[in-house]
Amino acid sequence: METQRWRIDPETFGLDGNPLIQEAASYLKKGGLVAFPTETVYGLGANATSREAVASIFRAKGRPSDNPLIVHIADPTQISHWVGEISEKGRTLAHRFWPGPLTLVLPHRGNLAPEVTAGLPTVGIRIPSHPVALALLKACQLPVAAPSANRSGKPSPTQADHVWKDLSGRIDGLLDGGMTGVGVESTVVDVTAETPVLLRPGGITLEMLQEAVGEIVVDLGLESEIKAPRSPGMKYRHYAPHGTMWLVTGEADALTRRVQELADEGFRKGKTVGILTTEEKVQEYQADWIIPCGRKSEPESIAKGLYQSLRTFDEVGAEWIVAEGFPSEGVLFSVMNRLIKAAEGRVIKA
Ligand code: TXA
Ligand code: MG
Repeated sequence: METQRWRIDPETFGLDGNPLIQEAASYLKKGGLVAFPTETVYGLGANATSREAVASIFRAKGRPSDNPLIVHIADPTQISHWVGEISEKGRTLAHRFWPGPLTLVLPHRGNLAPEVTAGLPTVGIRIPSHPVALALLKACQLPVAAPSANRSGKPSPTQADHVWKDLSGRIDGLLDGGMTGVGVESTVVDVTAETPVLLRPGGITLEMLQEAVGEIVVDLGLESEIKAPRSPGMKYRHYAPHGTMWLVTGEADALTRRVQELADEGFRKGKTVGILTTEEKVQEYQADWIIPCGRKSEPESIAKGLYQSLRTFDEVGAEWIVAEGFPSEGVLFSVMNRLIKAAEGRVIKA
């Protein structure tokens, strides 16, 4: 399959009626697969009411079919067509954070393709805020199922080139809208019970959720292997670099020292060694590759650059990777969630 690549500059062109968006939308209407930028990461979209179209998402990504997809919608008035009763706290969160990087798990009406929800009675819904995503959703007039547009097992794509490397030849088209904004995926919150449950931390922070609706139960499915995770995506082996990755938590000098000690251990074992850090600390380390994912003084920049940095370690072939941990607050809580998974639990306290 030849993949079209449409370059769209949301700053320069009007997006409503844009012929490239219309062309991309026409592929979605025909049951095709189109990757598009959102404010979090690139998504791989298909018509959420078509069983065949949705099945082709799983094939293109190599994704297990019992992991449900998020449905993207442009117009909030359309939501009641697909989902039933929304709790009061669910409505509060929707008003407060849509359009934006929040996915609400809601009871569905049974009229979406069953493959989207993997047989669950609920569906994850979100209204993205990226202008290209919104223009595409409006142009196709469909609910669009879209997981992150990476091959299963790779970090989510924050740039069109990441999508291109992972999926060209496997999808109909790619709307190239440059780098995404937030850099980590949307926050997933189940609002089917009285107290909302945070299933995946993301662009909307836990603090922001608590501020809006009070108590939030946190169930990231990480604590116990016996307990079945509530967000099916959490049970899969997530992106981990090809090299052995260590995550070091702690503070100040002790953290820096422990990171370098672990890097030195890699050298002693004859490995090529990478360190994941921030721009402020690049000079403090010695390794084959010292990669800053962002600036310590700007936590948002760390989320934004995280997945690119992780991809870089694989591109250069780092065999031993030591990552600096961050305080688990705000958007860095989401960053730590992804780093813990990438390190497959190899978390060391400095
Ligand atoms: O930012 C994002 O959310 C991106 C962009 C493209 O919108 N999408 C994304 O999709 O990250 P994906 O498929 O990579 O992650 C969806 C997550 C998975 O962890 C999945 O298990 C969970 O949402 N999820 C989806 N539907 C669910 C449901 N009904 N109940 C519980 N968890 C659900
Ligand atoms: Mg994903």
